[in-house]
Amino acid sequence: MGANCYACHQLTPQELSFGTIGPSLYQFAKLRGYGADTQRYAYGKIFNADAFAACSTMPRFGHNQILTEQQIKDVTALLMDPQSPVNK
Ligand code: HEC
Repeated sequence: MGANCYACHQLTPQELSFGTIGPSLYQFAKLRGYGADTQRYAYGKIFNADAFAACSTMPRFGHNQILTEQQIKDVTALLMDPQSPVNK
């Protein structure tokens, strides 16, 4: 995955090198629910982390145009898909 999410988050158990600045996202949707609310939250978080917590250390990928809207949708889908390695 692009956008170096691994620099700060654990995403899957297969990936052994990940940073721990951010919370682990392993089983994100499995734990938070696969519903529209979680999806909206994840998308918003990735688009503009500051909207939820001022001074978030997480980059504002959408706001600062590091990722395109399509890329953010893809990353959100990765977090939300029950079949994705993230939720295994
Ligand atoms: C520079 C470090 C950094 C990078 C890179 C980063 N994040 Fe984060 N992320 C954080 C931190 C710190 C938090 C927790 C504080 C906060 O809520 O802002 C967080 C929180 C989150 C949350 C909310 C987690 C929860 O349990 O509520 C999601 C979802 C998320 N990040 C997804 C991503 C994705 C997807 C990427 C890659 C596109 C990414 N992050 C890249 C640091 C980072």
